[in-house]
Amino acid sequence: MMNYGCEGLNVVISGGTSGIGLAAAEKFLADGANVYILGRSVLRGAMAVQKLQAMTGEKVFYIPCDVTSAEDCRRVMQSIGESIHVLVNAAGVYLERRLENLTEEDFSYIIDTNLKGTMLLTQAALPLMYEGGSIINIASDAGISGNYGCPLYCASKGAVVALTKALALDYAPRIRVNCVCPADVDTPLLRKQLEDSNGGYTMADMADAYPLQRIGRAEEIAHVICSVASPHNSFMTGSVIPVDGGLTAK
Ligand SMILES: NC(=O)c1ccc[n+]([C@@H]2O[C@H](COP(=O)([O-])OP(=O)(O)OC[C@H]3O[C@@H](n4cnc5c(N)ncnc54)[C@H](OP(=O)(O)O)[C@@H]3O)[C@@H](O)[C@H]2O)c1
Repeated sequence: MMNYGCEGLNVVISGGTSGIGLAAAEKFLADGANVYILGRSVLRGAMAVQKLQAMTGEKVFYIPCDVTSAEDCRRVMQSIGESIHVLVNAAGVYLERRLENLTEEDFSYIIDTNLKGTMLLTQAALPLMYEGGSIINIASDAGISGNYGCPLYCASKGAVVALTKALALDYAPRIRVNCVCPADVDTPLLRKQLEDSNGGYTMADMADAYPLQRIGRAEEIAHVICSVASPHNSFMTGSVIPVDGGLTAK
């Protein structure tokens, strides 16, 4: 078992009820952190709590939250009410749609969750952030290089990369702010992407694009998130870290 040095730290994870956020919650719990997971669906929240407690034997807290709502974000922080050592902004949505078919509703859906949600939750958390704390935003390879057929998603994740660097400057030396950029990872988000493509492409097609010849696993991204958050990792801020099987090295 890895030791990230997060024992006793308070960790808040948006999107902690599924996929990458859920895998990060599991690792932080196993490391002895107090973990708060956020998401909109109360059912998904309850299932995640059950799964995490069964896997780790540790108590985990679910708080319903829509990160697109400033009021929700403030309410979450009020209900936590104590120092936050680590904030992981993992809540995110994906849309595969070329520019000519995009609507203003699509714009709000993607930008409000991926960018505005990251801003609002971070803003609400700041007054509670522990001096020496750490914020980890989850962007994407799509925020580093272009991807086919998903310009809005790319734009939202590119903005998260830029936001990360700007916040790293504004809040140094008090808080470290970094950005983890996964490529394709087998999560419910990716399964839905494949379903929506109506057989247009498969997981094997995706794997072909990677120097490592496969897509990622949620626990591999979670490991990097915990490593970046770790108090041992105290000299890293403003960094953009691809975890992508070599995809953006091409
Ligand atoms: N999987 C990939 O291939 C991949 C690749 C690169 C980057 N990423 C990024 O990694 C992050 C996690 O993705 P994932 O694959 O783990 O997705 P996932 O399994 O679909 O999980 C997404 C999580 O975000 C929550 N969420 C969505 N909208 C929300 C909102 N408005 N307010 C609060 N919570 C919200 C979901 O819960 P509710 O729906 O219940 O709210 C869920 O907990 C995302 O930012 C995604 O863009 C994923």
